[in-house]
Amino acid sequence: MSGSSIGVLFKVTTWGESHGPAIGAIVEGCPSGIDLIAEDIQKALDRRRPGRIASSSPRKEEDAVKILSGTFQGKTTGTPISLIIENRDVNSSAYEDIKDIFRPGQGDYTYFKKYGIRDYRGGGRASGRETAARVAAGAIAGKIISKEGMEVIAYTKALGGIAIKLKGDAAKKISHKNIAGSTLMCPDPDAAKEMEAKLEKARRSGDSLGGIVEIIVRGCPPGLGEPVFDKMDADLAGALMGIGTVKGVEIGAGFKVAEMTGSQANDPITPEGFLSNHAGGILAGITTGQDIVIRVACKPISSIAKVQQTIDVQGKPVELSIKGRHDVSVIPRIITVCEAMVSIILADHLLRQKATAHE
Ligand SMILES: Cc1cc2nc3c(=O)[nH]c(=O)nc-3n(C[C@H](O)[C@H](O)[C@H](O)COP(=O)(O)O)c2cc1C
Repeated sequence: MSGSSIGVLFKVTTWGESHGPAIGAIVEGCPSGIDLIAEDIQKALDRRRPGRIASSSPRKEEDAVKILSGTFQGKTTGTPISLIIENRDVNSSAYEDIKDIFRPGQGDYTYFKKYGIRDYRGGGRASGRETAARVAAGAIAGKIISKEGMEVIAYTKALGGIAIKLKGDAAKKISHKNIAGSTLMCPDPDAAKEMEAKLEKARRSGDSLGGIVEIIVRGCPPGLGEPVFDKMDADLAGALMGIGTVKGVEIGAGFKVAEMTGSQANDPITPEGFLSNHAGGILAGITTGQDIVIRVACKPISSIAKVQQTIDVQGKPVELSIKGRHDVSVIPRIITVCEAMVSIILADHLLRQKATAHE
């Protein structure tokens, strides 16, 4: 299946389906000599796993990653790194009843129209399970960019219409540490409580919720991004839009710029630096050296217990209530996936910049 790779110099290919024997990633272009053992990748995978909260999928996967190639004595060798994660807790029986029925909001209808064949077991390649392979590859990208002082942090900004209320300094201090203790990876404990109650209500009523994830990149040097078709903002948006449930990507002031005047939207430049960051750390597709700020809008999980109208493969109308093991919201599980995709794009652009940088 084409469309399974991303990146130019740092290139990631994912493979595998939700209910196949395993999923994995191949990472090409990783520089040699980087410390890398399976535990480094495992830490990132453990943050993505289902089971942090009652509203996440009850599927119990260990997500134990194995490095099959590309390292020797704990260091990368510069050859392709192959990663494998076995699917252990596979139970396709819940999908037997819907094997000829298209779930509204899922990829069932479009995959069938495109490929003419239906892997109905757990959503196949369209499943959130595929994103474990992205997170594994993203952990390697994270190693490359952190050597240059970059840090990528994503967190829950809103869930089910409840937004965090942090402002000023509290917002600036958001870190991996202060979201680590939150089951929803949300830095505002009061908002998180409200979100959890709303999630539980949605779960009980057989429904689901969407939300907003904000991603901040700190320590990014100026000069990354390749105009005109591989601008940093274009590549970040593409990488994030490629995650299931993501329906919108905003950078900096995002859609608000449409309501601003030029004098409000411009970030004044002084000898000490920029005075604001409406551009979200990117101008003309090239990083400015400020924080990169991105938000993604995630739709509610489509597989819900509430009765919905749909059709079967013969086009006959059917009423559907979905059983099976599903998340109630993609938040917080999508957070590490967002970090991974952003890290992959940054690692690729860092290597591209190093290859072509001016003296
Ligand atoms: C981490 C993660 C977990 C997901 N879990 C589920 C799930 O449990 N049930 C489901 O129907 N969709 C789930 N999805 C969403 C589907 O992958 C996605 O809705 C589907 O591929 C259709 O793509 P679209 O929503 O971008 O249109 C998940 C997505 C991610 C990223």
